[in-house]
Amino acid sequence: MVATSAQQDSTTQARLRALARQLQLPVCDLSTPGACSTFRFYLSLFSANPQDNTKTLGLASTGDDFKGNVHIDFVHGKLGHRRQFGGGRGQALAKAIGMKQGNNPTIVDATAGLGRDAFILASLGAQVTMIERSPILAALLEDGLQRLAAEPELSSIAGQQLRLVQANAIEWLQQHANENTANRPEVVYLDPMYPHRSKSALVKKEMRALRVLVGDDDDAGLLLQAARQCALKRVVVKRPKGAAFVDDSKPSGNVQSKNTRYDIYPVSNAREHNS
Ligand SMILES: C[S@@+](CC[C@H](N)C(=O)[O-])C[C@H]1O[C@@H](n2cnc3c(N)ncnc32)[C@H](O)[C@@H]1O
Repeated sequence: MVATSAQQDSTTQARLRALARQLQLPVCDLSTPGACSTFRFYLSLFSANPQDNTKTLGLASTGDDFKGNVHIDFVHGKLGHRRQFGGGRGQALAKAIGMKQGNNPTIVDATAGLGRDAFILASLGAQVTMIERSPILAALLEDGLQRLAAEPELSSIAGQQLRLVQANAIEWLQQHANENTANRPEVVYLDPMYPHRSKSALVKKEMRALRVLVGDDDDAGLLLQAARQCALKRVVVKRPKGAAFVDDSKPSGNVQSKNTRYDIYPVSNAREHNS
């Protein structure tokens, strides 16, 4: 649901009502006691940074699923830090994608989520298409992209290297698999939800929100198959270290970091180039 409040200015309220129409979600009024409590979570606009007037789209829980607003900030916070100090092309994600020696592949991140991996790859120089099937997450990503575009030093990433498609990636990849190679990605990257531990305080707020919103990605095997039909060079699947493979097919190799394993799969059309 989308929540407005009588305390908000008219522009903010109009933005939220337009978003509710676009997402076909009901609107409730946070300033009316109890009006929003029948819903499990809500979208609203809030000030993430008190020093400016920018409004950020956030997802909040009406109960105790997670605290505060989950929002996307490509500029500051953890992503800002990782962009500057994350290890560049030496980090495991970039190595698995094949970004060594200045390669800037075209990538489809078919499980965009909160856009963190996609943003890191784009900020390293790759052309990344993010695909996300949850309309709510896609709205959060779109909002994050707009604020990225407003940042002079980083706007070229939003304008040229990172784009968003709201779709089921299985269908998108199947449609593009038969297209001219110019319209197909060199690499498809997958990070499906991993069946998880119990609702623990150790699980970060963002992951708890994702779980509430999208549940488990039980069709990850189908997604892998579609990805291998569409990618021109390789498919990379992110898994927690020690986790099972996504399906019965075996990767041709992997790259590991402290808690994560990136499984690398050859493409199905035997057109893999070395990169
Ligand atoms: C674990 S999250 C990805 C997190 C992401 N790598 C990041 O850095 O923020 C998995 C996301 O993939 C999305 N997803 C799973 N299967 C999908 C599909 N077939 N098409 C589009 N999105 C999908 C889910 O909705 C969820 O948002």
